[in-house]
Amino acid sequence: MTIKFFLDEKEMPKQWYNLAADLPSPMQPPLGPDGKPISPDMLAPVFPMNLIEQEVSQERWIDIPEEIMKLLSIWRPSPLQRAVRLEQALGTPARIYFKNESVSPPGSHKPNTAVAQAWYNKQFGIKRLTTETGAGQWGSALAFACSLIGLECKVYMVRISFDQKPFRKVMMHTWGAECIPSPSTDTKAGQEVLDRDPDTPGSLGIAISEAIEDAVTDETGKTRYTLGSVLNHVMLHQTVIGLEAKKQLKLAGEKNVDVIIGCAGGGSNFAGLSFPFASDKINGAKIEIIPVEPASCPTLTRAPFVYDHGDIAKMTPLLPMHSLGHDFVPAPIHAGGLRYHGMSPLVSQGVVEGLFTPMAIQQLECFEAALMFARTEGMIIAPETSHAVAATIRKAREAKEEGKEKVILFNLSGHGLMDLNGYESFIHGKLADYVPTQEEVERALKVMNGYPRPEIRKTGKW
Ligand SMILES: Cc1ncc(COP(=O)(O)O)c(C=O)c1O
Repeated sequence: MTIKFFLDEKEMPKQWYNLAADLPSPMQPPLGPDGKPISPDMLAPVFPMNLIEQEVSQERWIDIPEEIMKLLSIWRPSPLQRAVRLEQALGTPARIYFKNESVSPPGSHKPNTAVAQAWYNKQFGIKRLTTETGAGQWGSALAFACSLIGLECKVYMVRISFDQKPFRKVMMHTWGAECIPSPSTDTKAGQEVLDRDPDTPGSLGIAISEAIEDAVTDETGKTRYTLGSVLNHVMLHQTVIGLEAKKQLKLAGEKNVDVIIGCAGGGSNFAGLSFPFASDKINGAKIEIIPVEPASCPTLTRAPFVYDHGDIAKMTPLLPMHSLGHDFVPAPIHAGGLRYHGMSPLVSQGVVEGLFTPMAIQQLECFEAALMFARTEGMIIAPETSHAVAATIRKAREAKEEGKEKVILFNLSGHGLMDLNGYESFIHGKLADYVPTQEEVERALKVMNGYPRPEIRKTGKW
């Protein structure tokens, strides 16, 4: 029985897919401090113009430059694999497939956009990139990309993850980048947080403020900021995942897919796998598409669709997205990459429209799922990815109860070989579930009082 489905380098997608072109209700623009839509020039101190053009593009297909294809081919196309042993252990009639993004050198999907962003920055004459990282996957992906392309790189790593995952820092150093814990004393934004709360575990929102401040205060003008998720151009770069998966499902003999699942922090691995299938759904296919988030940071399942900043110091424009409020500091769960108060505007609009149906799962169920996956399929997955596996197991059990032969596809967004502390704590019974109370959520949402509200645009088709 064939369980792995490979494509040749020549079969790699040559264009990225832009969901913005096909969303039934148009996206709403980011807003500046005056509440008016921002112009592309206002983003110029932060991003190079070639990426800003992609950010606002309405084109359905965007060509992938030849040199980026060459860099991607270091590890792409990634395999599609059938999880037969997991199916057997669950006794499910469902056929479970996963796209294995852990095969990239840094170990996750993040390099798909890191090499693209580093390449466009280099083309624009930029010499140095700054960024934030949660679990360290994005920071190590950018460090890897900068070393391939020849750029300097500084990473602000959320402090709790910096302490939990020290080897991620070593990976970044190995690729020649600088990595420091956030909040730090290197920026005004970091110093202010430390003055208020010296023991803070940090958050992605704080680290983003630091990395943006670092980029925009460089007087040489040769530093720019990069974001590993949330923004439209990041979702775009990740669509190679779903475009490859479509061809591979055909090789596996599947005509349809019933359920698509990805964990969602800022939304990029979920978007990368699901957007090409969302296009089929918009054109009439019946597919359940599920972004999965931690119950401790319930952005899509409990937070409203609002205009909010992407960071604590309000350096980003106001984005139309689901948000728990830019001050929200999520509980220190091991899935550091899912500890984010906001969500990609494209994913958020897809949820508002009803194209995507989000799910929230607790940390302990996710680690149980990760252990089951390790003991059936062998792979030790990232704590973020365990959310997708936990949801897959739920859906496969549901298929068993219904006696239905469903096809389930999930994104194996990364390996967990740098996250073994989390596994050890779980195995020794030291982890807990965290769910914010309704009062905590409501308190966090107050930070957006008085902000403009986006329209709730939906066609009612889904
Ligand atoms: C392995 C892995 N999966 C998922 C995520 C979540 O990010 P996103 O929602 O952008 O895919 C991260 C973020 O760091 C990650 O490292």
